Amino acid sequence: MKPLLVRALLGVTATLSAGSVFPASAQSPETPRAVFVTPSTPAEREIQSVGENAIDRLAVAMVNEVRGALASGSAEDAVDMCHLKGLSTEGGSLPGMPRISAVKLTSLKVRSPDNTPDDADKLALASIERTMATGDAPPKILLQRVTLPDSAPEWRVYKPLGLTTNCLVCHGNPADQSAALRAKLHALYPDDQATGYKAHEWRGLIRVTVSEAPTP
Ligand code: HEC
Repeated sequence: MKPLLVRALLGVTATLSAGSVFPASAQSPETPRAVFVTPSTPAEREIQSVGENAIDRLAVAMVNEVRGALASGSAEDAVDMCHLKGLSTEGGSLPGMPRISAVKLTSLKVRSPDNTPDDADKLALASIERTMATGDAPPKILLQRVTLPDSAPEWRVYKPLGLTTNCLVCHGNPADQSAALRAKLHALYPDDQATGYKAHEWRGLIRVTVSEAPTP
């Protein structure tokens, strides 16, 4: 299989076939339905753009946070602040981002069980994996609508995350890690699957949930 290369940190442009629909799973009345949406209305385009702008800011913050932590101390100390842990959606949204009600990092291979993909996340991961397995560039952005019967839809925006060499300190070959870092990661994350990566590989997704624009 071809290496899953992501040329830039946030992936590169590709298009999803218009209107692709992937049901989340068997349709029981309470099963959320997740569909990818190619934005075709101003409201959908606006939601995607709000989500993408937020992700771009969060991804820059995450990369800077990693760089700063590694520059100012040991990698094992940096583990305590990974990643964007200081962010809180208490009060319903991220500070300064009133439309962003949730943020999540997820992957096909998670370090923390807290980041395990749910069914809708799994569809996004599978869609990107499928595209990359054919040698194509991953989609730059995915917009997904998740619906439960009788409730408002949840709008999710996903963007692929690639690994820079800084990231490999903690996600590369464990044999290259210091004994102290290995021990700390093992103690905190006994089921860690997120090692063995190489630079520029696809690591996972950053996802935000975007509330619909308030009606004027
Ligand atoms: C100092 C060590 C360290 C570095 C450097 C690091 N990470 Fe992580 N990474 C972690 C830890 C610890 C977790 C688990 C965080 C948690 O408990 O939610 C994690 C989790 C993740 C996750 C969420 C999925 C999962 O495996 O749980 C992604 C995505 C991720 N890292 C990407 C990156 C990227 C991209 C970089 C480089 C910009 C990077 N990491 C650099 C330590 C690190």
